[in-house]
Amino acid sequence: MLNRVRIAVLVSGGGTNLQALIDAQRAGAIPSGEIVLVVANNPNAYALTRAENAGIASAVITRKACGGQEPFEAKLAETLERNGIDLIVLAGFMSILSESFTRRFENRIINVHPSLIPSFCGQGFYGLRVHEAALDYGVKVTGATVHYVNEIPDGGRIILQKAVEILPDDTPETLQKRVMELAEWVILPQAAETVSANILKIKEAGKTI
Ligand code: GAR
Repeated sequence: MLNRVRIAVLVSGGGTNLQALIDAQRAGAIPSGEIVLVVANNPNAYALTRAENAGIASAVITRKACGGQEPFEAKLAETLERNGIDLIVLAGFMSILSESFTRRFENRIINVHPSLIPSFCGQGFYGLRVHEAALDYGVKVTGATVHYVNEIPDGGRIILQKAVEILPDDTPETLQKRVMELAEWVILPQAAETVSANILKIKEAGKTI
């Protein structure tokens, strides 16, 4: 029996979603998977310190050092495959992946996005900008979404969503913090477990055929 799915978490910045995954793993909430690798596309990402503190191996791969998107993705794919990664979790990873990359890992990449997709998503909607757009529009409810990653930015099948109320005096910063605490940090570990359990089932079925 294969006991655990090998998870890589891809990050670019602060890594609070990575921390939520690490905390969930410690609490036994991701029994079907294990975070074995963190990859940052930014050498200054604080997420790298979080990985180190948790004793998780990490790698830095930047588009600049690789000389473009294609060699960047080639190195990323090679690193993930060399580490036997089954599930890739994008947790604040600010780089859009090409179709050839997402096809190579079909149904093996998930992403957390800080809005209720299909609102405030797609190219150009990331980080604080998503919350600025929600406040500018005047919606009264927003939230977070975890979805599979395909060639369409934020366009893959939805796995989990959680709604968060917008308060009258919210700023992009207060809203971002509340969406993280009440939605992202809750549904990302849940989705990581659900998808890991599915991958395990598929792998185990494959083994017995
Ligand atoms: C999170 O809010 C995440 O949902 C968002 O960036 C933040 C990263 O924070 N991701 C996107 O906007 C992707 N489109 P973190 O580094 O503290 O997890």
